[in-house]
Amino acid sequence: MTTIGLAGAGTIGSGLIRLLGTTPATRDWKIKTILVRDLSKVRIGLPALAKMTNRMEDLTDDPEIDVVVELLGGVEEAFQVVSRALKAGKAVVTANKNLLAERGPELFALAARHRVALGFEASVCGGIPVIRLIQEALRADHITSLEGIVNGTTNYLLTRMSEERASYADCLADAQRLGFAEPDPDYDVSGKDAVCKAGILATLAFGGYVDFRKVPTSGIDSLELEDIRQAEAMGYRIKLLASARRSPEGRFDAEVGPVLLPLGHPLASIRMEYNAVLIESDGLVKTLASGKGAGAAPTSISLLSDLLDIAEGRARVPQLDHPFLGKPFDQGARGTAPSRYYLRLSVPDRSGILAQVAGLFACHDISIASVLQPEVPDEAGGSLVPLILTTHTTTRARLDLVLASLASEGWGRSVVLRIQEN
Ligand SMILES: NC(=O)c1ccc[n+]([C@@H]2O[C@H](COP(=O)([O-])OP(=O)(O)OC[C@H]3O[C@@H](n4cnc5c(N)ncnc54)[C@H](OP(=O)(O)O)[C@@H]3O)[C@@H](O)[C@H]2O)c1
Repeated sequence: MTTIGLAGAGTIGSGLIRLLGTTPATRDWKIKTILVRDLSKVRIGLPALAKMTNRMEDLTDDPEIDVVVELLGGVEEAFQVVSRALKAGKAVVTANKNLLAERGPELFALAARHRVALGFEASVCGGIPVIRLIQEALRADHITSLEGIVNGTTNYLLTRMSEERASYADCLADAQRLGFAEPDPDYDVSGKDAVCKAGILATLAFGGYVDFRKVPTSGIDSLELEDIRQAEAMGYRIKLLASARRSPEGRFDAEVGPVLLPLGHPLASIRMEYNAVLIESDGLVKTLASGKGAGAAPTSISLLSDLLDIAEGRARVPQLDHPFLGKPFDQGARGTAPSRYYLRLSVPDRSGILAQVAGLFACHDISIASVLQPEVPDEAGGSLVPLILTTHTTTRARLDLVLASLASEGWGRSVVLRIQEN
């Protein structure tokens, strides 16, 4: 029999309780204690015999509890619960990407020292078994790059903007009404959620700790329908991509942000709230995993897989060579990879401006591939107007010099997106 201490009975905690109740293999499992913040909240569907508490020690220090499932969210309190449980020799399963991205090295060191399992399949892409894919199926291969749509909210918004030609603000309001976006959407739309997941996946794929705080990150909140339209007219689709790669010389690059993907790219057709991760490796070349990346039911499937592994004695206990304990990557050298770019600038509405902008690019040896100045109403005359252009292959470092020159002229940079060729 497995005895569980459940930390958190919110969306995911309640989903896991429902799943445990309907899975034959877990019939004799017991949720002994449930940690919540507010004991006075009315809750339905909780196991009748479980004790409710707001003291974490009731889980971590109870010798009858074998496994602690951490579903609190946040970092500090979750770290206290998980680290205390590991020190007490209990296995832990968590869905908390913030916790692992930020404190993963400490927690895997504790798990290794105390020889206990730390399951985290649910922390990235909800129900898609992408962590198993990297850690198990691909462990005999050599991964060279990974790219993923790892945030369902932003993919939902970009899909609606693209398919319905609706504005960002309208799609966001709709997504909030339908529960695909939080009342405060910043965490998702700014790329913060995606970069935590990128840090975890890149750590596992490349075998050294990737600090998500050093990964260049941008969100979709400054995109306009015009960007979606122009990208599609050029044969691309805009997706918020988390990507990381290691060159044969060992140079590591990671980035999170909206990217123009060719329509034929495997990730360009991932729609709505679905997630997908594309892994390139020497042996399998390209492997694509896609599915439901969030929500109570898919996330609980991943949690239950980890719990079954622990109950059946198949869970791998982290060793001292675990990727989270590997030497951190040098994430200092940025912006040197060659790429094309899409830019939407704000420039003064006066004659000669195109030549002036082209001159700035030429000064920094960047060749412009196309220019478009969308028409604006006459009354906008004299103010800043949009100028959309694409470049031939350059580097982000060089482009940043042009953007700095534009800014020093008092002109705006609205959107800068990488164009991916394949
Ligand atoms: N929602 C998703 O689709 C999804 C998908 C994948 C992963 N995750 C991850 O799963 C975790 C849980 O997410 P969720 O959506 O279930 O969150 P949630 O609905 O906000 O539930 C959080 C639960 O934890 C309890 N809690 C929070 N802080 C606490 C504290 N300091 N002490 C005691 N109890 C505390 C809350 O107690 P009260 O009930 O008393 O407030 C609540 O029961 C997060 O790490 C999240 O990132 C979520």
